Amino acid sequence: MMVETVSTHTDISTAQLVASLSRALDLTEGEPMGHAIRTCWIGMTIGQTLGLSQAMRGELYYALLLKDAGCSANSQQVSSWFGTDDRTAKHALKAVNWSNLLMATRYAIGQSKPGAPWWQRLSQIASVGRRGPKAARELVEMRCTRGADVVRQLGWVAIAPEAVLNLDEHWDGSGHPRGLQGEEIPLLGRILGLSQTVEVYWNRFGPGGALQVARERRGTWFDPNLVDIFLAAADKPVYWQDLSTVSGPEAIASLDPAPSTISLTSLDQLLHIARVFGEIVDTKSSWTAMHSVRTARYAASLADIMGLDTRAQQETLLAGFFHDLGKLGVSNLILDKPGPLDGEERRQIETHPELTYHILEPIEPIREIAQVAASHHERLDGTGYYRGIRDADVPLGAQIVAVADVFDALAHARPYRRQLNLDEVLNIMRPDAKTKLSPRALEALEWGIFHREDQFAISAPLT
Ligand SMILES: [Fe+2]
Ligand SMILES: [Fe+2]
Repeated sequence: MMVETVSTHTDISTAQLVASLSRALDLTEGEPMGHAIRTCWIGMTIGQTLGLSQAMRGELYYALLLKDAGCSANSQQVSSWFGTDDRTAKHALKAVNWSNLLMATRYAIGQSKPGAPWWQRLSQIASVGRRGPKAARELVEMRCTRGADVVRQLGWVAIAPEAVLNLDEHWDGSGHPRGLQGEEIPLLGRILGLSQTVEVYWNRFGPGGALQVARERRGTWFDPNLVDIFLAAADKPVYWQDLSTVSGPEAIASLDPAPSTISLTSLDQLLHIARVFGEIVDTKSSWTAMHSVRTARYAASLADIMGLDTRAQQETLLAGFFHDLGKLGVSNLILDKPGPLDGEERRQIETHPELTYHILEPIEPIREIAQVAASHHERLDGTGYYRGIRDADVPLGAQIVAVADVFDALAHARPYRRQLNLDEVLNIMRPDAKTKLSPRALEALEWGIFHREDQFAISAPLT
C-alpha cells in the first residue's frame, strides 16, 4: 500500500531543488524568500565576467545559494544575547557596518530587548557589552563553520564549503572569523560577501543603495576588482530590471553551468539532502535538537509496522525530514520561551506548516510530499492547522508523521515542561485516537514501543 506517489520515472533538477530550499535559509536570516536566489544571480554575473571555468562557476552557484546553510546555528545565541527576535536582529545587522565601532554600538543598543522597560533594556545592553567585540566573531564563526560543514555534507561540491566558511572575511582584514586579508580570502568567498551585501541593500534601498554600499566598502570590506566588475555591470538600467525579475527557483536554475538531476527511481539521494535540511531546522534550538531526524525515523517505522511498502516508508521518512522546515521562519523567542505562548505567539508558530509548503511547493515532482509534510498539524476532527482539513482529507502520510511528531515532542523536554516518561506520553496520546490522531498509527506506535525498542528509542534529557 502506498501513502503518496512520487513518480519513479521523474528526475528533479538539482539546481532547482537547492534554489527552492535556499528560501528556507532566507527565513532564518530574517530576509524575504528569494534573497539567496538574487544573491546567486548577482554573484554568477560577476563569475561570468571574471571568466571562471565551468567547474568553478558550478561551485560558485551552489556556494551562493547555500551561503546561509549555517544560519540556524547561532539563532538561539542571537536571541538570548540580545533578548530579541533573532530574525529581526539578523535583518538589522545586515545593514550595519559592524567594522565601525560607533555603528556596532548603536546596533547593539537598538537591538537589545526593544520595547522592554528601560531598566531591562539597560541590563541587556550591559550583558551584550560584557561580551564585547568577541561576540560578533563568535556568532560569525558558529554560522560559517556550520554552514561549510552542511555544504560539505551535501557532497557534490568541492570548494564551495571553503567559500561559505569565508564569506564574512573582509578585504582589509576586519572580517570574521579568521581576519584574513586580501587574496588570502578565497575568491569565491569574496564574491559571496559582495553579492549578499549588494542584494540586501538593493532590496531595502534600491539600486542607489546597492551602488553606494559597494563604492563605500571598496577596498575595506570588498575586493576592489570585484567591486569594479559589479559597478561596470550595474551601470546599465537593464541590470536592475533583470535582477528584479529574479525571485523564483526556476529563474535561477538555468544559471547552473553544469546542470544535473536527482533521480527519483531510488529516493536515497533526495533523502540525504532532506536529512541535511532537517538537521538545519533541528539546529535552530537546543530544545528541538534532532527532532526532525527522530520524527522522520519514528514515522518510517510506523509506516513499516502498519504494512506500507518500502517506497511508502521512504516517502514518509522524506516528509518527516521536511516537516518543520517552516520553523526556520519562527523566532527563537517563541521556540525557546519557558512558558505558555500568548495568542500572537501561537499565531506565529502556527504559520510554520504553511511555510513548509511554500518552501517545497516549487519542486513539482514532490508536491504531494510537500502536502504531507505541511499537514502534520492537521487533526482528524478538523481542529488542526493550517488548513483545518479533516478525516480522509488528511493524507495518510501526514497522519503517521503527526503521531511520530507528537510522540517525539512529548517524550523530550521542552522549555515549558520536563521530559515525560513513556506511560505519561501514551496516557496523553491515547484519548486522541479517532478524534484527532490516527488510531492505526497510534496502535502501531504502542506496538513498536514494546516490540521494536531500538526504533523508538528516546534521547537522554537535556542537562
Ligand atoms: Fe510542526
Ligand atoms: Fe515537529
